[in-house]
Amino acid sequence: MDGKNAIVTGGAHGIGYAIAKRFLSDGARVLIADIDEKAGEAACDELSDLGEVRFIAANVAERLDVRNLVANALDAFGDIDILVNNAGISHKADFLELKESDFDRVLGVNLKGVFLCGQSVARHMVEKVENGGDPGCIINISSINAVVALNDQIPYTVSKGGVAQLTRVMALALAPYGIRVNAVGPGSIMTDMLKSVVNDRDARGKILSRTPLGRIGDPAEIAGIVAFLASRDASYMTGQTVYADGGRLPLNYTVPVDS
Ligand SMILES: NC(=O)c1ccc[n+]([C@@H]2O[C@H](COP(=O)([O-])OP(=O)(O)OC[C@H]3O[C@@H](n4cnc5c(N)ncnc54)[C@H](O)[C@@H]3O)[C@@H](O)[C@H]2O)c1
Repeated sequence: MDGKNAIVTGGAHGIGYAIAKRFLSDGARVLIADIDEKAGEAACDELSDLGEVRFIAANVAERLDVRNLVANALDAFGDIDILVNNAGISHKADFLELKESDFDRVLGVNLKGVFLCGQSVARHMVEKVENGGDPGCIINISSINAVVALNDQIPYTVSKGGVAQLTRVMALALAPYGIRVNAVGPGSIMTDMLKSVVNDRDARGKILSRTPLGRIGDPAEIAGIVAFLASRDASYMTGQTVYADGGRLPLNYTVPVDS
């Protein structure tokens, strides 16, 4: 990844932070875009020994923020080779109680955010290809919930199903330019999003009973797949979602859990 320029949305915490760290270790320059300004600045400080990393405060659900983010990346690096659409939120509610505003809020970040960032960066990438430059690639962070469903995570589940389809349509639309678009669908990964759940013994047992590899995943294990998808080794892959879930999707029923 030497000399490549990457944007990682939601890179202040969790999986996005691990992706930024992996990209920097592999020689890329990274712009972290996150709504959490304090954590974004802190992430930048922590990672700066590994390479050139910058931070911009941005809400991926806001068109003007996204426009500013892309302009900022081009200003800082002169080019964008890789976009990772990672920013995501969830909202737990019973289907009969779910508020319209919460449905819109989650879809706004998890699905519209991928569209806004993807379209804006793709416009730059297409222009680059038309001027004889190398095509870049886009990687969306989906979830196993693109395939299986949670009854109390309605907008989250719907948004991730949407990301799988958006990944396919973006891949088809951008294939003529050689721009690849893929996704990663994590299972249960140890980040802030999951910490509250796994600290509860019963909830942890429930998760592990549906995880044949018998453990929660590490963010670095998702970052490794993202690095592969961004690399030349994945040069003939587009429109795919790679699921990294400790074996949950192939599993019917449950596996025993050590108490
Ligand atoms: N942790 C898991 O088990 C798991 C499983 C499947 C998929 N995912 C997906 O991985 C991605 C990262 O999740 P995580 O577990 O690292 O969560 P996290 O909460 O640790 O990190 C999410 C990051 O996104 C940022 N963010 C939130 N809203 C934003 C917005 N509007 N604009 C810009 N940034 C915003 C947050 O500030 C945070 O830094 C998400 O898309 C999530 O759905 C996570």
